[in-house]
Amino acid sequence: MIYITRKENFNAAHRIYLKELSDEDNYIHFGACSNPNWHGHNYTLFVTVKGNFNSDNGYLMDLKKLSRIIKTFVIEKVDHKNLNLEVDFMKNIQPSSENIAIAVFNVLKPELEKEGVQLHVIKLYETENNFVEYFGE
Ligand code: NI
Repeated sequence: MIYITRKENFNAAHRIYLKELSDEDNYIHFGACSNPNWHGHNYTLFVTVKGNFNSDNGYLMDLKKLSRIIKTFVIEKVDHKNLNLEVDFMKNIQPSSENIAIAVFNVLKPELEKEGVQLHVIKLYETENNFVEYFGE
């Protein structure tokens, strides 16, 4: 089994809040990410796939193809978008890093299986110091 990873970047706006709470209470729960007028993050996304290494052609998967799949199904949908309002696979989902990672995993898993590899993990950095990982369970 071999693992390969492609890194992509995107910038997106969001707000993390509960509708039933006041702006003040949302700030207590969610801090700066609850700003009523939105704010953005520079996200870094790592997509790791795994499979059985084919020593004949030396490839698990063409990384350009992996990049193209990530761009088509994720980056083009989220980059410079509002995650609360504009992204079909984030509809009615609180746009925390945890939930974004899970949604991205679920979007990419079937597309990567079509290429004969398994999605191993989604790693998403919201800031330089904070990241989440989702392995599909
Ligand atoms: Ni935020």
